[in-house]
Amino acid sequence: MLQLYIALAVVAICIYFKWTLSYWTRKKVEAPPPLPIVGNMGEMIIQKKHYGEVYNEIYRSYPTAKYVGIYKMGTPAVLVRDLDLVRDVLVAKFAHFHDNDFEINTTLDPLLANNPFTARGTEWKNIRNQVSPLFTTAKVRACFNIMKEVGDTLLEYLDSSPEINRSEGVDIKKVMTKFTTDVVASTVFGVKAHAFVDPNSEFVQMSREFFVPSFLGAIKGMIAFFAPKIATILRISFVTENLDRRLRNLIRQLMASREANEKNARKDFVQAFVELKKKDQENRITEDLIVGQAVTFITDGTETSATVMTYTLYELARNPEVQKKVQDEIDRVIEENGQMTDEGIMQLELLDRCIHENLRLHSVAFNMTRICTKPFELPQQFPNEGQPVTISAGTPIIIPMSAIHM
Ligand code: HEM
Repeated sequence: MLQLYIALAVVAICIYFKWTLSYWTRKKVEAPPPLPIVGNMGEMIIQKKHYGEVYNEIYRSYPTAKYVGIYKMGTPAVLVRDLDLVRDVLVAKFAHFHDNDFEINTTLDPLLANNPFTARGTEWKNIRNQVSPLFTTAKVRACFNIMKEVGDTLLEYLDSSPEINRSEGVDIKKVMTKFTTDVVASTVFGVKAHAFVDPNSEFVQMSREFFVPSFLGAIKGMIAFFAPKIATILRISFVTENLDRRLRNLIRQLMASREANEKNARKDFVQAFVELKKKDQENRITEDLIVGQAVTFITDGTETSATVMTYTLYELARNPEVQKKVQDEIDRVIEENGQMTDEGIMQLELLDRCIHENLRLHSVAFNMTRICTKPFELPQQFPNEGQPVTISAGTPIIIPMSAIHM
């Protein structure tokens, strides 16, 4: 009898895989052949390729397609190639694609649940409405002088640190990460991270805990990105209880000291939150929201900006004639303004173009994701070939930016 049950279970599993992994064939949409369980993500699962490389290869294998059907593990998803369709997904048909493809458990990860990068639907809209007043041009520009102070620390470090003059060269990514960590600590939290002088300072350690790769972290990330339902069942969280407690303590102390000493307040984001909270009649500016936004700056702002600066410096080093022109532009603007100012930064047009070109060549994020939130009719897959296909709510959409850029 047991053998019969096992045989029936095996047959049921086979039928299940056959059915789910024939989704695109049934819709007459071309897709690379999937494998059971891993779909098209096998090389990512065995850590042979980054998922961005997997998507890039699929993108290149269908040069005339407007989109390609793929299997994100067992889930049928759409990899978009056509730029009109990209615009539809991101802008024109926003009502059909208003959620991103992250699933964060609000109980296990209350801080990440308050990050607009990961929040969904009404939550996302509420968070954006509450924190948008903090991002006015005037408020961001008010941070310029704080950033300049950190720039002076960077200059001192470049002039005097033994780490810079080593014969084997400089790990510029590390230097840029020290810079962005100090900038976030100063402009957001109003504290000194001392990243240039103390690699083990409390702030540097907290920031590092989000990024330093670990085996367990990689497994957790993979489950959360590619099998979010399993992540929820396994109660996987990204911010550990210990880190959550330390971040909350830091923000509580900072806000209390600001409230006690209003006159000498710095123009940073903790201060902006203190002011926002004072006007908050409905108690919407909660601790989760405030600490969550502070975390957003660390998670979204530190590594991204450091990577962009690293690659820009790398490309300028490879192209000395462009480097010379960028240097001349900076010198001219400093001469005209007497020093570098926030208005002066806006006049650095060539540097701006270099940064944009660098973002094209070395996308910091390989792809953007959305979830189809309302059935949507995709056009013919190939020019003048195939039928329009309707995708249902819940279908993941992948926009492979780095492949499109190249
Ligand atoms: C040059 C550096 C940066 C790059 C390349 C970058 C890249 C990106 C990308 C690709 C997205 C996803 C957009 C989407 O899915 O539509 C995103 C979203 C986001 N980024 Fe950045 N980012 C950078 C710097 C920053 C900084 C400094 C912050 C600081 C707060 C930040 C905060 C965010 C937030 C909050 C979102 C989510 C926005 C939303 O969905 O409402 N990013 N970023």
